[in-house]
Amino acid sequence: METILIKGGHIIDPQNNLNSELDIVIEKGKITKIEKNIPPFPNCKVIDASDCIVSPSFTDLHAHLRDPGQTYKEDIKTGSLSAVAGGFTTVVCMPNTIPAIDEPSLVRYVIEKGEEIGLCRVLPTGAVTKGRKGQQLTEMALLKDAGAVYFTDDGAPIIDSNIMRKAMEYAASLGTFIANHCEDTALSKDGIAHEGEIAAALGLPPLPPEAEESMVARDCILSIRTQAPVHICHISTKLAVEIVAWAKAMGANVTAEVTPHHLYLCDDEWLDFHCKAKVSPPLREFEDIEAVRWALSSKIIDFVATDHAPHAHHEKMLDHWSCPPGMIGLQFALPIVLELVRKDYINIVRAVEVLSTEPSKKIGLKPPSIQKGNTAELVIFNPNEPWEVTEDKIFSKSKNTPLLGRKLRGKVKYTFYKGKIVYQDSSKQEFCYD
Ligand code: NCD
Ligand code: ZN
Ligand code: ZN
Repeated sequence: METILIKGGHIIDPQNNLNSELDIVIEKGKITKIEKNIPPFPNCKVIDASDCIVSPSFTDLHAHLRDPGQTYKEDIKTGSLSAVAGGFTTVVCMPNTIPAIDEPSLVRYVIEKGEEIGLCRVLPTGAVTKGRKGQQLTEMALLKDAGAVYFTDDGAPIIDSNIMRKAMEYAASLGTFIANHCEDTALSKDGIAHEGEIAAALGLPPLPPEAEESMVARDCILSIRTQAPVHICHISTKLAVEIVAWAKAMGANVTAEVTPHHLYLCDDEWLDFHCKAKVSPPLREFEDIEAVRWALSSKIIDFVATDHAPHAHHEKMLDHWSCPPGMIGLQFALPIVLELVRKDYINIVRAVEVLSTEPSKKIGLKPPSIQKGNTAELVIFNPNEPWEVTEDKIFSKSKNTPLLGRKLRGKVKYTFYKGKIVYQDSSKQEFCYD
């Protein structure tokens, strides 16, 4: 392994309060020096990181890698590639595969395949109920022993409150937690687009926001009463955020994540009627976007999770009812979070916290950190470099995102995992003059 000198970068690491321009030497995969102005020395590869930020690499607690069963949409290899291209070296994947991850052997399958590919840490979640059918609890203890990092039926909510309560207590007794996709399907079943002016103007079947909010409230109350932790997946409305704020004030062990698309896009993405805008929960109105942005800043929302949900082109071309909801996200999280920094909702330290430190801590993983003696697990990104989202730059098998053709700012240049470079940006810098 060659010796690497990362020169001229601005290091941000909330773990050890690093926020300054320093050079880094990596020898045999380990960080051996962090100092100002280290001159190049013989036999070292110099990475010019001027104009770049160097931070611990990112952790995504919510991605759909579709393996086993739907590998025409994504597999663990292409999922890992998009992860490292987005600066992530830990990806937690969802159990809504075919079959659902409800048996220890399936948990092992995902872990072993991830390790074999070796680009990043792929950690599976286990299903809460058998087949994710919402009726019978899985053997969570066995799934956890096999390596499941937390439990969720994501893609579907846990509707039955008694099952949810038991699951929360069971998971808590194992030192882990349930993450719920909050959606009262009795309220949402006739809907496609967020109930608001856009759905009304376009004549799209409205999906009322209280479908999400009522279940967020229920889960918060269960957490307050049982003292068991609960995690809210992909929170998306102002009222849902206010409910979580209330529960936190009551001392509940409630955490919440927000997706890049709910931080950036609103329901006017539906204006061309194309199902690329279809996602669950639906894209909301501007007021909701403002609310989730401020909640991320004030720590009511704990971190960002991509909810990377790849679907094939032919599926996204179906009619509004038949088309599956979801959009990809692993390569867009960083530029969208940086947009919040540019617009002064959060500062750059919080940006690294919500992408790296906080999600790692949530699953009891020691957050990657830029410290002497540590194996290099870091990302070098240019926070201002513009790039246009085009299919050829997307590493996922699926290209389903409303961001195609848009310009984003913030580009991953290098990702290090286990001391090695697992991603290096090879595209030319694009210049945009707007
Ligand atoms: C997800 C999927 O495609 O699996 N879709 C989505 O719209 N978010 C399921 C989910 O996260 O609920
Ligand atoms: Zn979900
Ligand atoms: Zn999901």
